[in-house]
Amino acid sequence: MILNAHDLRKKARQTLPGFAFDYIDGGADDESTLQHNKAIFDRWMFTPPVLKNASQRDLSVNLQGTRLAAPLLVAPTGYNGMLRRHADQMLASAASRAQIGYMQSTVSTASLEDVHPAAPDNHWFQLYVLKDREITLDLLKRARQAGCKGLVVSVDAVHFGNRERDKRHYRKPMKLSLRAMAGVAMKPGWVLRTLLPDGIPGFGNLQPYLPPENQKGAGGASYFASQMDKTLDWAALEWLRSQWQGPLFIKGIMAPEDALQAQRMGAEGVILSNHGGRQLDSSLSPMDVLAEVRGLVGPDYTLLIDSGFRRGTDVVKALALGADAILIGRPLLYAVAVGGEALVQQTLTTLIQEIDLTLAQLGCTRLDELHPGMLRLR
Ligand SMILES: Cc1cc2nc3c(=O)[nH]c(=O)nc-3n(C[C@H](O)[C@H](O)[C@H](O)COP(=O)(O)O)c2cc1C
Repeated sequence: MILNAHDLRKKARQTLPGFAFDYIDGGADDESTLQHNKAIFDRWMFTPPVLKNASQRDLSVNLQGTRLAAPLLVAPTGYNGMLRRHADQMLASAASRAQIGYMQSTVSTASLEDVHPAAPDNHWFQLYVLKDREITLDLLKRARQAGCKGLVVSVDAVHFGNRERDKRHYRKPMKLSLRAMAGVAMKPGWVLRTLLPDGIPGFGNLQPYLPPENQKGAGGASYFASQMDKTLDWAALEWLRSQWQGPLFIKGIMAPEDALQAQRMGAEGVILSNHGGRQLDSSLSPMDVLAEVRGLVGPDYTLLIDSGFRRGTDVVKALALGADAILIGRPLLYAVAVGGEALVQQTLTTLIQEIDLTLAQLGCTRLDELHPGMLRLR
């Protein structure tokens, strides 16, 4: 029975070949940040007030002019085509049905033009800044033309994390080991759902810029890695700000002073994130710095957060500490791999029900009634 994200993860481990499961599930180095992202939620505990009439509840939020029925967004994740054919469209469509946000990665399998119809009112584009500024500008133009509500610039993956669980499946970069290939042969259902009829997935957004010999998986990935702008700095972000007129969020902020800097340079919001423990191991959880950042940027600045959110109570803890909305990553990837769009939808429904129940049990009718006084660090 699948009741929660832990059940989904178990099922995904059975469904996917080992290399694909470890690609989504793994973290950097010793995975201490990955573990901490989970453990932190057991340190923050509620002191629930009682005897308040919370029989009617409203979970909606307004995110820079877009109304979300619940304070959730699908996190941007690259190469979802490895999980199931059309995974990007399924995630976007499930988000749209749940009336929450959907963020699409630069390195998604489907192009943003192909995904937009599945999420016409809640589609955000996540940009990795590439060395070639003409390509970067073209991606912005395409996001604008497709009708994306906002831009998310990820700044924490300029230097890729050392993901050893991932690396163990390859004999050389992007070449699966014999053992990993045998693992693929053991999962014919995955081969059918993922590789047929088109073969190894590519990178829809990058297709126009990729050399013909690098259109598919390995070639596309190494081309993309070579194109990441390793000189990225605040001046580049200011340039991007001047090129994008709509809402702009900076994703991958952990240091409180960086959140202030983002606010000063005119970004509409930041996403506190350690990239789900996939980048710098030994990084704190964004939950460790959330209250401090809220104090620095003031009550009205938009603060989103992700990394390790699995339960409705996790989401409500972040809202109480000052977040406006939460990005959900891996649980939705497990869901799309195991059961496609229907299971993503069910996962979102369950999460929203958990948030709603938590709110009721805290005696709140609206999200803005939550406050840090409802929590203690144990
Ligand atoms: C398989 C995978 C791929 C990801 N790809 C991207 C990406 O392309 N762009 C990005 O900004 N973040 C990416 N992330 C990070 C997520 O947006 C998010 O920060 C992270 O998944 C949150 O942690 P959680 O999944 O443990 O909740 C990826 C995460 C995973 C698991």
